[in-house]
Parts: sequence; structure tokens; C-alpha cells
Amino acid sequence: MIVAIDGPAASGKSTTAIGVAKSLGITYLDTGAMYRAVTLGLIENNIKFEDSLELKNYLIQIKLEFAEDKSGTLLFLNGSNVTKKIRTSLVTKNVSEVSALKIVRKFMVDIQREIAKNYDCVLEGRDIGTVVFPNADFKFFLVANEKSRAKRRFDDLSKSGLLDSIGLDDVLKDLNKRDYKDSTRRNSPLKKAYDAKTIDSTNLTINEVIDKIVNIINKKRTLD
Ligand code: DC
Repeated sequence: MIVAIDGPAASGKSTTAIGVAKSLGITYLDTGAMYRAVTLGLIENNIKFEDSLELKNYLIQIKLEFAEDKSGTLLFLNGSNVTKKIRTSLVTKNVSEVSALKIVRKFMVDIQREIAKNYDCVLEGRDIGTVVFPNADFKFFLVANEKSRAKRRFDDLSKSGLLDSIGLDDVLKDLNKRDYKDSTRRNSPLKKAYDAKTIDSTNLTINEVIDKIVNIINKKRTLD
């Protein structure tokens, strides 16, 4: 079973997807973390995003591994734990440019399909329901108003000590800038799949969003 959860930045996708996967007892895949890890790798290795040969050589040797510990899901890039580094503002500022590249998307989508082919899986991202798994069993598109998205991201950054002394307004500006880039790019733009169910999380707690999704899935599964 594949559950696709897409939506703009800070719409609550990650926490929701983690909760849904936990409640259903299935695997969770954060595809945004994968694009972030590639972005970090390119920056750390001084590879210019527009240098297609170097980019390809980098991508073919990349090894991304997810692991669980008591703090949650960890991500390793070529053996090194990058869980925290991929959330820094440097990566966040560059990830839209990297994730717009066709060759990067092809590599990531192949890996995502390979991982999910062996498991029942909740995948969250921007193109899961439209491109990665257009035949997903369940598709959701999470939205929330600007204020609650900015507040959510602000609180997350502040909790992880990654706020870089920016205020709520700047967080909102950055979110909007990234969503604009992600939804207007040529390759696999952020878009609601025609058959995805939209869930507005503005006035819901994350647990209410999780329950809503799990109920829809369980109801359909008992009917099948
Ligand atoms: O979900 P996130 O904010 O961690 O995602 C980081 C970036 O990765 C996002 O700005 C766009 C890109 N992304 C993508 O293009 N496709 C996905 N399936 C997931 C994320």
C-alpha cells in the first residue's frame, strides 16, 4: 500500500506522515530530506549545480540511508549523519534550485520507488501523488494558511536551535519564495494530484489531521 502526502512547505506533512505511518504500522519516507541531503553534498563538495557532468558523477556514487533511533528518523549521506545539517538555512536556501534539476529528480525518484517497492509506505513530498506514485492507493494534499505555516516552521527551527536570528516575517517570506520556486519549476512541480484529497490543517491539531487520514484509509480498507 502506498500513501502519498504532498503539499507546500510547513503544511505539517512530516509530522502527519510520521503519525500516519506509526498508526498504520508501515514505513515512512521523507523525500524532502533526500533532496536536502543531495543539496548539502553538492555544497560541501563545491560542485556547481549547473555543472552537469560533475553533478552526474556525484549522484552516481551517492548513498542515502535512513535509520531509526529514539530521537526519530536519522539520515546518513555516504555514511555520515546529516540529519541536522540538512535543516540549516544554507541548505534550505539552495534546495529548490537543486530539486528543480531533471537529473537530480530522476535519481531521487528511482531511489524512492526502489525503497517503496518492498514495503507498505507513507511518502511525503511535492510530487508523490503526481509523478512518483501516480497510482498510489491514497493521496492527500495538505494545506494550511500562511500564518500557521510560518508559526509552525518558526517553532520547529527554534526548537532545533536553527533559527539563525530571523523573525516570523522572514520565515514566511522564505516559505513563500520556496513554494513559488517549487510550484513553478518545469520538472515535477508542486501540484495537487487531481485525485488527491485536500486537507486544510489550519484549524486542526496534527493529531486531528493524522486521525482524519487514518480513518479515511481504514474505512476504505474495511470496504475492500
Ligand atoms: O519537505 P522539505 O521542505 O524538506 O523539502 C525540501 C525541498 O525539496 C522542497 O523545497 C522541494 C524539494 N522537494 C521536491 O522537489 N520533491 C519532493 N518530493 C520533496 C521535496
